[in-house]
Amino acid sequence: MPKMTFIEKNGTVLEVEAPLGLSVMEISHKHGVDIEGACGGCLACATCHVVVRPDWYEKLNDKKEDEEDMLDLAFELKKTSRLGCQILMSDELDGLVVALPVAPLPWEK
Ligand code: FES
Repeated sequence: MPKMTFIEKNGTVLEVEAPLGLSVMEISHKHGVDIEGACGGCLACATCHVVVRPDWYEKLNDKKEDEEDMLDLAFELKKTSRLGCQILMSDELDGLVVALPVAPLPWEK
């Protein structure tokens, strides 16, 4: 099964199993990572905001316009910010690394 890594706001690094087809937001909930996902993944909130480690960002599917609009409302927006409910796990994303939005990001220190 693919794996992915969450870096939590306190710096905790959590590598978890990431079932194919589940969103990053759904995977975070399975593992108790503090991502809210208030709208359940229907692009009506920005509480599933994650920052993708730059080396992974280009591998993701393109953003829809609706996602761009919601991201504009997110705190700590970065160049590689995405909504976790819009990133679906695939074999290509095996090893994906995302951080919860915090300043500075773990890879900026
Ligand atoms: Fe609301 Fe992702 S869970 S936009």
